[in-house]
Amino acid sequence: MQDVYILGVETSCDETAAAIVRNGREVLSNVVNSQVAIHKQFGGVVPEVASRKHIENIALVADHAFQQAGLHFAQVDAVAVTNMPGLIGALLVGLSFAKAFAYGLNLPLITVNHLHGHIYANFLEHAEIRFPAICLVVSGGHTSLLFMKSADEYDLIGSTRDDAAGEAFDKIARFLGLGFPGGPAIELAARRGKEGLYHLPRVFLNRDDYEFSFSGLKTATMNLWKKLERRPERNADDLAREFQTALVEVLVEKTIRAAIEYGVETVLLAGGVAANQALREKMGEQANKLHLQLYYPSLPLCTDNAAMIAGKAYYNYLKADFAPLNTNAHPSLFSL
Ligand code: KG4
Ligand code: ZN
Repeated sequence: MQDVYILGVETSCDETAAAIVRNGREVLSNVVNSQVAIHKQFGGVVPEVASRKHIENIALVADHAFQQAGLHFAQVDAVAVTNMPGLIGALLVGLSFAKAFAYGLNLPLITVNHLHGHIYANFLEHAEIRFPAICLVVSGGHTSLLFMKSADEYDLIGSTRDDAAGEAFDKIARFLGLGFPGGPAIELAARRGKEGLYHLPRVFLNRDDYEFSFSGLKTATMNLWKKLERRPERNADDLAREFQTALVEVLVEKTIRAAIEYGVETVLLAGGVAANQALREKMGEQANKLHLQLYYPSLPLCTDNAAMIAGKAYYNYLKADFAPLNTNAHPSLFSL
C-alpha cells in the first residue's frame, strides 16, 4: 500500500497545533503554539481569548507543519481535526480551518475525539505495545480507566464522579497561589516541599471499583490550608507535596488493581496529567514489581498536540470513515 500522509489540526483548548504523520506512526512534523503566557495573567484559560488566538495562528501553524515535514499541501491524503470535547469556540476554529482545507484540496475530512488522540499518542512511539491493556486517561477534563482490546477498541471500566485529576491540580494550584497551569506548578512546588508533614484523604481508595473522586481531596486540601492560617510553619510547597502524593497514590493503586483483575501485562498512561513525573515514577515502581509493561508518551506528545490527532485518524482513513463538510463540533463527549 502507498504511504498515507495525514495533516492533523488541534485547537480544543489553549494550544494551536498542526502536525503531519505518515502511516499513523511517523511524526514528520509536530507544531504547537501555546497560549499559556497569555492566559497566565488571568489565572486560567479565557475561552474567547483562546478562540481569537487560534484564528490568528492556525494558518501559520499549519504552514509551519508543512515546512517542517518538507511537504506541499497537495501531498497530504486527508485532514484530521479534533471535534470534541473542548471549548466550543476554540474547537470551531480548528474544524472550520480543516473543512476549508479539505474542501479546497478535495481531501477527505476526519474528525477525532481529543481523548482518543491522547490515548493514541502512546502508539506513535511504541510500536511494540501488546494487548489487552489497561489505560489510565488523566487530563484536564477527564479521568478514566479503560480496558483496551486493541489500539482503537476499548471498554470504560471506571471514571471520576466529580472533578478530573487535572482540574483538581489546576484548582489547588490557583487556591495556593502557585500559578498556572496548575499541574506543572504543583509538580514544581511538590519537589520543593517536604514529604509527610500533612495528611490528606485517599478518596475512594478502599472502594472495590474503578471510580474516582477528587472533589473531596480538593476540599480537604483547602480546609487544611485555612485551618493552618495562623501557624507560622504553614507552607504551600509541603501541602502541594501531600496533595500530589495523595492523588497519585489513588491513581496508581486503582490502575494496578485493574491490571491484576483484568489479567493484562500492559499499562498505558494518557492525557496531560500523565506528564507528571511523580505519577510516572510511582506507576513505574508498582508496574515493575508485578512485571507489567508501562508506557507513556514523551512530554511533547503527552500534552495537547496534533500528531496524536493525525495518528489516530489513520485508522479512520483505512476504514474510509470520513466526516461530511457540514459536521459540527461538540463541547462534551458523546462517549469515551
Ligand atoms: O490533556 P491536557 O493537555 O488537556 C485536556 O485534554 O484536558 O491536560 C491538561 C491538564 C491540566 O489540568 C494540567 O494542569 C495538567 O493536565 N497537567 C499536569 C502536568 N502537566 C499538565 N498535571 C500534573 N502534572 C503535570 N506535570
Ligand atoms: Zn488534552
